[in-house]
Amino acid sequence: MIIKQKIKKTDYKSVKPIFDSSKKRVYIETYGCQMNVNDSELVLSILQDNNYSLTRNIEEADLILINTCSIRENAEQRIWGRLDVFRLAKNKKPELKIGIIGCMAERLKEQLIEREKIVDLVAGPDAYRSLPGLLRNVEAGQKDINVLLSREETYADISPVRIDENGVSAFVSIMRGCNNVCSYCVVPYTRGAERSRNPETVLNEVQTLVENGYREITLLGQNVDSYFWKDETNPEKDVNFAQLLEMVALVNPAMRVRFATSHPKDINNGVLYAMAMYQNICNCIHLPVQSGSTRILELMNRKYTREHYLERIAKIREIIPDCSITTDIIAGFCTETDFDHEQTLSLMNEVGYDFAYMFKYSERPNTKASRQLKDDIADEIKTKRLNEIIKLQNRLSLESNRRDIGKIFDVLIDGFSKRSTEDFSGRTSQNKTVVFPKENYNIGDLANVRITGCTSATLIGEIVDEKHHETITELKNIIDETIHIVENKIKNTIKDKIRK
Ligand code: 5AD
Ligand code: SF4
Repeated sequence: MIIKQKIKKTDYKSVKPIFDSSKKRVYIETYGCQMNVNDSELVLSILQDNNYSLTRNIEEADLILINTCSIRENAEQRIWGRLDVFRLAKNKKPELKIGIIGCMAERLKEQLIEREKIVDLVAGPDAYRSLPGLLRNVEAGQKDINVLLSREETYADISPVRIDENGVSAFVSIMRGCNNVCSYCVVPYTRGAERSRNPETVLNEVQTLVENGYREITLLGQNVDSYFWKDETNPEKDVNFAQLLEMVALVNPAMRVRFATSHPKDINNGVLYAMAMYQNICNCIHLPVQSGSTRILELMNRKYTREHYLERIAKIREIIPDCSITTDIIAGFCTETDFDHEQTLSLMNEVGYDFAYMFKYSERPNTKASRQLKDDIADEIKTKRLNEIIKLQNRLSLESNRRDIGKIFDVLIDGFSKRSTEDFSGRTSQNKTVVFPKENYNIGDLANVRITGCTSATLIGEIVDEKHHETITELKNIIDETIHIVENKIKNTIKDKIRK
């Protein structure tokens, strides 16, 4: 199913932030999901085009933007806590402007300005293009707000400025919003309806990242499996997620491709075959299950059963045998019994997850669950169940990591280990973190690493095939030298011609 594609060769465009003290300085703090991280990069791009430049230092800032998350109550609590700190900064520097953007801005709207006097600006996830206009009003001393949601906005034409300058991995949004209305979830209300981005703009963004030396991208959407680009002129040019994945994988075979998040009701075999077919699509699927009980899944409005979920897992194992599988689990959803909870534990055992994000249910205002169901599980029971889930997952992660001991993996080096600058940290295709001595490698290199030990969270290894690396380095040097000689010859010929 190879799909022909045209990628416009872009003029080289840097994706790095500009630090320029002659401009107004913005300090951006981001909470929540990967989508928010990518949104902050869009916001910086819009602001850089409007005479702002980034600062990483609060004291230098003329504007502080907090990109917020509403997914659980404690996410919002943290942000209220941060506002107390920013109040002190504003007391010291009254001309400092403070803006709340993202999901909490969308959820609380004017209430943010009413409750919190230091807030000057509120902008929801679909209102970032209006930030320059809002800021003009704010600079003139008013407060301003835009929380309109859109059915079309995908920011497709905006090149994100990569705030985290690791230069190795980047997020690329392929869609926005969500149409699923899981009963516990606030996202459809804060991020609006689902819309997919023009695939050509996705490919151009990936190409720009290739040209900037990036080695890994993660395609982002609340439910990537429902990505669908409808070509108004020719239905043959419609693109679904499996096709987009393939097109992205073909941009450059050296670029690793990941994606998140998949939905158990929508992930189809086409996606699995694309993963099996292209070596640069990483073997890792994040497939949130939320609960192992079909009764609870129905109350959550997840639209699949335990059996369907397990069938999808079996298919993943059949088509991509070395795929890692990770998940999200909620403990203590409305009416959850001990039996339902046991079902979650037994499903976790059956799947043998490599990793999981685990949460206590947190009722969110205006969601379907908050309107129709009672948050009736006592907090101590939620905590007890969550602890059991975490304990089991720690064991499963440890078992999964132990199975890797002795194996050799391609590891993309993305930074130093937390403990020592003598060690690098990187990730396998399965998205497991590996720590190993640096040798003469660099951040951004792909290393062959043999696993020698592990904890439940990390693999420990050593580089093998040092000779192979040396040969590649030698080859690179020879190529560089040849290019240099050819360039000089060309220059000399041109000079000769000019002289004549
Ligand atoms: N309470 C607890 N966890 C939640 N999640 C989403 N909404 C809630 C909620 N109200 C979790 C789900 C989702 C992940 C991003 O956050 O597990 O997959
Ligand atoms: Fe929320 Fe469900 Fe949409 Fe995920 S799929 S964002 S959990 S509504």
